[in-house]
Amino acid sequence: MPKWLQDAIFYEIYPQSFNDTNGDGIGDLDGITEKLDYIKELGCNALWINPCYDSPFKDAGYDVRDYKKVAPRYGTNADLYRLFGEAHKRGIHVLLDLIPGHTSEEHPWFRESQKQEHNEYSERYVWADHTFRIEHYPYVAGESERDGIYMLNFYKCQPALNYGFFNPTEPWQMSYKDPACQQTKEALKDVMRFWLDHGCDGFRVDMANYLVKGEDENRTGTCEIWKDIRQMLDTDYPEAALVSEWANPKQSLSAGFHMDFLLNNPNTGYSTLMRDYSNSKANENTSGVNNKKIDSNTDRSFFKKDGHGDIMRFLDDYMPMYEAAKENNGYVSIITCNHDTPRPRRTLDYSELKLAYAFIFTMPGVPFLYYGDEIGMRYLNIPTKEGGYGRTGSRTPMQWSNGKNLGFSNAFPEDLYLSVDPSPDAPTVEDQQKDPNSLLNTLKELLHLRHEYNDLNAQNNLEIIYAKKETLPLIYKRGNLFIAINPSEEEQTADIATGNTIIYSICEGNTDGSSQPAAVTITSSSITLAPQSFVIIK
Ligand code: NOJ
Repeated sequence: MPKWLQDAIFYEIYPQSFNDTNGDGIGDLDGITEKLDYIKELGCNALWINPCYDSPFKDAGYDVRDYKKVAPRYGTNADLYRLFGEAHKRGIHVLLDLIPGHTSEEHPWFRESQKQEHNEYSERYVWADHTFRIEHYPYVAGESERDGIYMLNFYKCQPALNYGFFNPTEPWQMSYKDPACQQTKEALKDVMRFWLDHGCDGFRVDMANYLVKGEDENRTGTCEIWKDIRQMLDTDYPEAALVSEWANPKQSLSAGFHMDFLLNNPNTGYSTLMRDYSNSKANENTSGVNNKKIDSNTDRSFFKKDGHGDIMRFLDDYMPMYEAAKENNGYVSIITCNHDTPRPRRTLDYSELKLAYAFIFTMPGVPFLYYGDEIGMRYLNIPTKEGGYGRTGSRTPMQWSNGKNLGFSNAFPEDLYLSVDPSPDAPTVEDQQKDPNSLLNTLKELLHLRHEYNDLNAQNNLEIIYAKKETLPLIYKRGNLFIAINPSEEEQTADIATGNTIIYSICEGNTDGSSQPAAVTITSSSITLAPQSFVIIK
């Protein structure tokens, strides 16, 4: 386990939209390098950069054409090596995005694989043996010179790389033990080595659970691949870290990942915290990744002040995952949101966001902050871009200042990758830096506390002290620290003895213009929390 994860707080960057230094309307790697001091000062000491490789960008770069080349629109490989170096100087680690399951249809491996004549890449992708195999695809698929149809992994532009099948049921399906499938794995390791040798600190792994195909609930074949890769890391790159898009820590962490994301999949509890659209039309596809209007009357998110949320809906799903992480010496990674999910500001106001972040950044595991969430950037209802669809609204340019294009770029507004938030009250870093009570400054305090107190960093030392169905407050312990949260509009009391030294508090309730009420009243046997408040007590 890389030691640095113990105190890591990640910042996820969608490179298209972070900072444009050459005025072409799209973000670039130099733009990230330029903002490393900002990121460090905020309290983040690790980055996850979404794919920045050469690509036709039909899925925002998750369709890779060349794994070893930076996309010219972001700069050059040399720019990325410089970014690694500058980040390291500041104690910041950098994870790239690894897309092991598919490439772009324009990747040279795939172009070779499509050829009729057998070659080195003929088995690199999953191919059924002839074009008229309509029992598998109810259409004729003849687009290649080769007589056969290929399996897709996600969008149509993303053919599935061949790691084989767990239990082949058709003659054209290879066992995952087949040497050709082992070669795909070796090709993946080669890509990883390439970037690790150039200074990258590890990878966020796309669709990590889905390499070996076929029915297998336990994902045995896929887990074997990751165990082998973990061995390579332990031997040659012991400080490199892997975080999986899997949302099943029992499987992912025992397969060798160091961290696994808590995603907004069903049964992770995640959505109940701040995206509980469960009764709303906006949730027709369960993840809420669409831009339909949300009916806030049916939102029972735990952090909505009038949501009448129930923390047990989260804990019932989360605790088994947390226990699995603990057993496997790994971490659950809670995210504020990511490039695939609606921004939390879609449903929460600033006061609610402060409490939600106070929770996320005092929980065990390694947390991830998505760029722009630190100032509460909005989810925008905008048309799709590069295969984003409903996700596009969470991918708009970072809002730095009140100047042109909110400080993102010098380009003409019509030339921007995506338009900036047009609202007159669009939040900016510049404004929030000036306001001691802003979301940005509150989050900064929380992140710095997490670094200051060992009990608050990644270690799996969580103890739930007071959590009851449809009852508030929520109280938990991290080592010697008690943490209590009341997201509701009413005062809440628990008959529990806690410490009596308040280390930090937030109090957002009763903001009627009068002076800030005290967040908490503690007696020898009880604790009372003011409306919308949070405390850390020793
Ligand atoms: C998950 C990524 O997060 C998403 O953005 C992408 O579209 C799919 N995987 C396919 O790579």
